[in-house]
Amino acid sequence: MPTSDFVTFSKLPYEERLNEIVKDAGLTEEEKAVLQDANSLSMAKADKMIDNVIGRYTLPIGMAVGLRVNGKVHNVPMVTEEPSVVLGCSYGGYMAEPKGGFFTSTTGSVMIAQIMLLNVPCPENAKAKVLEHEAEIKELCDSLDPVLVRFGGGMVGLDVRTVPSSKGAMVIVHLKVDTRDAMGANAVNTMAEGVAPLIEKITGGEAYTRILSNLAVHRLVRSRATIVKEMLGGESTVDRICATAEFAEVDPFRAATHNKGIMNAITPIVIATGNDFRAVESGCHSYAAYGGQYTSLTHFEKNADGDLECSIETPMAVGTVGGVIKSHPMAGINLKIMGVETAEELASVIVSAGLSLELSALRSLATDGMQKGFLAGQARSLAEQVGAEGELYEKIVAKMIADKKVSLEYAQELFAQMK
Ligand code: MEV
Repeated sequence: MPTSDFVTFSKLPYEERLNEIVKDAGLTEEEKAVLQDANSLSMAKADKMIDNVIGRYTLPIGMAVGLRVNGKVHNVPMVTEEPSVVLGCSYGGYMAEPKGGFFTSTTGSVMIAQIMLLNVPCPENAKAKVLEHEAEIKELCDSLDPVLVRFGGGMVGLDVRTVPSSKGAMVIVHLKVDTRDAMGANAVNTMAEGVAPLIEKITGGEAYTRILSNLAVHRLVRSRATIVKEMLGGESTVDRICATAEFAEVDPFRAATHNKGIMNAITPIVIATGNDFRAVESGCHSYAAYGGQYTSLTHFEKNADGDLECSIETPMAVGTVGGVIKSHPMAGINLKIMGVETAEELASVIVSAGLSLELSALRSLATDGMQKGFLAGQARSLAEQVGAEGELYEKIVAKMIADKKVSLEYAQELFAQMK
């Protein structure tokens, strides 16, 4: 669906929206039925997913449409309860469109598994010895996941550090593992546990913690877009957006909210595609603090033409195979809707969506403020709550916004007057 259609799409009744997506993604009738059915995750399946299940909790799937990433247009499913997120994300894509949308690069799909050792007799010497044994460590790691190796993954490198602690020097080994299209938590955790006895033998120490790190610095995605100043109402808005974005770079209190705005797009897509949103959130926020002070994940600047250049860099550990992607009936369908072929492509679209939404948020913050858009969303929700439908619904929403009176009491009053 072309980016320019996002407004038209948002005005369609929901059945028509669904039909558009079904057509665009080539979904089957069965897949369409799964999307409409809140019970498509059966109680039996839910009961096997986590412990002590007593029910299921449903949320809406909204579609950010027409996000162009590396020349390809994606429709992006988002599972969220927050109004304005889906349209804000589409709107960012619309603003980026005149200069070709979003362009990305990645550092690949390499995860880190950590092994922390204590009681190592000569820590610096042990570090050198572990590095000498890289080939042997790799052979053992790869033998623990032959399927991953068959798909072109496996251990690709080793880092070792020594860090002082109250218990003496910690020797910290990082296994770097290319997990290809899987998020890879299981694969790298198995390797860390499986290789720990060998590393104990090499170092003479005792392995304590053996687990992946969510600070996935070898799984970075960078996305950038140029927004022509006309899309923003002129150069003065570009300047105001740059200043608002810089505020987040220099002030951790603002950075927390700015990055929350980015996660407003990232988390819903990570959930929609069956990925681990806590892992992704931990990765993004820890990366934002990696330089020693918590800061913004983005950078915004004005170019020589007076246009806005925006960019983001963050870890994005997501997969297109394995885990919940297999067991949740909607995850695979949402991946099909997105039209992504690999985990790297999925990660690129997710990070671009994060930038797209925060671009829209900054535009509002730097101009009218957020409340205008928020109140419109609120007015829609209140009109719905009082039972208004069709034309009456539209009238009540418009009247509440025009009168700047967005409350349940006023919605009820208007409903009584107009019905
Ligand atoms: C609200 O959910 C997100 C924003 O606060 C993000 C921001 O302030 O940049 C609008």
